[in-house]
Amino acid sequence: MAFERVGVVGLGTMGAGIAEVFARAGLRVIGVEADAEALARGRGHLERSTGRAVDRGRLTRERQAEILGRVTLTTSREDLRDADLVIEASPEILRYKVSLFEELDRICKPETVLATNTSSLPVTAIAAATGRPGRVVGMHFFNPAPVMKLVEVVGTVVTAPGVVSGIAELAGRLGKTAVAVGDRAGFVVNRLLLPYLNHAAVLVDQGMAGRDDIDAAMKLGVGLPMGPFTLLDLIGLDTAYEVMGVLFDETRDRRHAPAPLLRELVTAGLLGRKSGRGFYGDEAQEEQRPMSGAVTFDVAGPGSEELAGRLRAAGFKPSDDPGVVLRPTDRPVIEHAVRLQDPSRMVGVHLVGDRVAELAATALTSDAAARAARDLMKVAGLTPVPCKDRAGFVVDALLFPYLNDAVRMYESGYASIDDIDAAMRLGCGYPSGPFEMLESLGLARVRDGLRALYAEHREPSYAPAPLLDQLVTAGLSAFPRG
Ligand code: CAA
Repeated sequence: MAFERVGVVGLGTMGAGIAEVFARAGLRVIGVEADAEALARGRGHLERSTGRAVDRGRLTRERQAEILGRVTLTTSREDLRDADLVIEASPEILRYKVSLFEELDRICKPETVLATNTSSLPVTAIAAATGRPGRVVGMHFFNPAPVMKLVEVVGTVVTAPGVVSGIAELAGRLGKTAVAVGDRAGFVVNRLLLPYLNHAAVLVDQGMAGRDDIDAAMKLGVGLPMGPFTLLDLIGLDTAYEVMGVLFDETRDRRHAPAPLLRELVTAGLLGRKSGRGFYGDEAQEEQRPMSGAVTFDVAGPGSEELAGRLRAAGFKPSDDPGVVLRPTDRPVIEHAVRLQDPSRMVGVHLVGDRVAELAATALTSDAAARAARDLMKVAGLTPVPCKDRAGFVVDALLFPYLNDAVRMYESGYASIDDIDAAMRLGCGYPSGPFEMLESLGLARVRDGLRALYAEHREPSYAPAPLLDQLVTAGLSAFPRG
């Protein structure tokens, strides 16, 4: 399959990014928008994105001009008639996409492959609306398209032989890695990523922890490139809401029901970066709070030495009459708190990596003790993440269900372990894929953490995936590969 002329329909953030990727790889691009105003916005995206690369010294002005020169912008879809491939990046509305593909099918030559960049809508339904269902696929890029290295190539039961491999080869020419998948809601990445982002929104809504604290925990503690709320703002809250709706419709898993907070923000027009404000964008200047006077503390329970050592190194010694009792733990501490003479002094401390300390406040913890714990963590060089005293606190509560979902996805036969790992690394810039992460955290620790989450929430999908449970029972520490 020879692809030299490529049409891109829709030049919003994703479409413009995709057009740039094709033009950078030397292909001719016909960019189509509905009207002159939208076209000008699309041109602006292209100029800004390549201009930024010039400013950073990654692109010369000549090469920028060459790339932009390969892109023809038009408001007439008829200009796509000779394209070898047309990829659509329009709003996630199935009705709209179906009628667009009917039109593209009429306009384009019979050999043209028609591709959709949909995040989650059924490619099969779009293909079936055309007279060439065998030449309709999903070609799913990740935001920002010029940066993220993954393309999911979605084949359907009616895709003609050679089309998926032809598009995967083309992705390679664009400098991307292709993962070929079947047509299920969310494909690999969104099926695993979006429920985690949605869950983060639920945690904020429930007052489990704050937006900035959750972002800090996932970025600094787990090493993800962005916290969930920064990423939701990048993806667009409307897109996230729509993807969750599609996932829920397919799975009926209540964890996939879009978080009410997402609906509220979307309805208010707060869509994230594209509208200038979403979870972020309206920050009042953060108040710098002075340290709360003299802080007296004690560290109790198994694993105290590390934390006490850090605090000692910062010049703080345990006291016989502590204002706060810090208890290192990865489980809720309320049962230990009630054994203290003054339970209001206890705060659970869960170290995540070497930079983050989750601070679990029970229903009895006093504000003074919670404040003192925060201050102590700061002097110990840790980022405090205050949260409620619930199973998994913030990080494990967000991470373990995601890891469990990945195991279930593999068990369902939808994708291989290597493909799932590669998709999450390359599509989301994660430092490691879910199976790599599971193995480095320890399968037993994750299985036990999931059991604790399940016991607390009775959420069926928190129950450890059978394969995970079996590997732990068999004493294995790695997944079968190859
Ligand atoms: N367009 C073009 N290039 C961009 C860009 C953009 N919008 N944003 C960043 N870049 C480039 C920068 O120019 C820079 O390039 P160089 O290294 O060549 O100079 C590089 O990316 C790194 O940028 P920064 O140093 O400014 O910022 P960073 O190190 O924080 O990286 C990031 C930014 C690449 C976005 C990184 O934070 C990241 O990987 N985040 C995760 C993004 C993610 O998960 N995307 C997938 C979302 S899911 C999705 O898209 C699917 C869906 O259907 C919803």
